[in-house]
Amino acid sequence: MSVRHFLTLNDLTPDELRFLIQRSGELKSLFKRGEVFEPLKNRVLGMIFEKSSTRTRVSFEAGMMQLGGGAIFLSPRDTQLGRGEPIEDSARVLSQMVDAVMIRTFEHEKIETFAEYSTVPVINALTDDYHPCQLLADMQAYQEARGSIQGKTVTWIGDGNNMCNSYINAAMLYDFKLNIACPEGFEPMAELLTKAGDRVKIMRDPVEAVENSHLVTTDVWASMGQEEEADDRIRVFESLQVSPALMDKAHKDAVFMHCLPAHRGEEVSMDMLDDPRSVVWEQAGNRLHAQKALLEFLLCSE
Ligand code: CP
Ligand code: NVA
Repeated sequence: MSVRHFLTLNDLTPDELRFLIQRSGELKSLFKRGEVFEPLKNRVLGMIFEKSSTRTRVSFEAGMMQLGGGAIFLSPRDTQLGRGEPIEDSARVLSQMVDAVMIRTFEHEKIETFAEYSTVPVINALTDDYHPCQLLADMQAYQEARGSIQGKTVTWIGDGNNMCNSYINAAMLYDFKLNIACPEGFEPMAELLTKAGDRVKIMRDPVEAVENSHLVTTDVWASMGQEEEADDRIRVFESLQVSPALMDKAHKDAVFMHCLPAHRGEEVSMDMLDDPRSVVWEQAGNRLHAQKALLEFLLCSE
């Protein structure tokens, strides 16, 4: 069987995605009980980071160690990748030495090229277009807080960015409705909207968007690589701050998520992350378990 990659959620079937949530829960229980489980003994993950990270780096690195393997952090500053060695060559070389490669980069095409030339699984740890690993953690956090997300309504508030694009994929694969409240000109990828059809609605008014919503989620207004636009974006997005008052307009059982890092006073009010409806810390913690389930799936499946 050819090697499996995880570049977007679409690389897995809905059954496989549901299995990962269940498996992640099992691995979380083992971890909480302090049980040693090392199916990846002697296996190595190469981790290429062309953008900053706290959660993604620590969860992949700790996850590999806990599963009995190891991880190597590679940054463009001190590898030949940063000096222009072609991505195709790097993929072919790293494939000879490690068992899987995780990449956080800018252009999504870069990770697609890497995967084309890699003979080991490649995992998208965030590109300008998608952040599928975060969605695994988010879907698990919803399941833990409120049960199945199937048939529920999710509202995305803010920029139509990489996280928003991944939520559109998730809406189709996990079968939920998605309202997106974003300013004009900051919509998610048009081709995804077309593919999603009626399942996804673009709205402008956040209050209307959260009505009857079971999950409200947001992200920074300026993503990595857009730092120079940050001040202008604050002006464009200011009416889209998520606060406990906005959550009051959602379904009474609604939960709040944010992939983090958050900018309090911008996309979230100062008190939103500490509101009882916020599950952001559980959500962040699930990155560890969900990615361990993903690594086990990609590296141990027959
Ligand atoms: N949510 C997320 O991916 O966080 P990091 O940028 O810290 O990895
Ligand atoms: N949209 C954000 C997500 C960070 C985890 C970014 O790309 O910077």
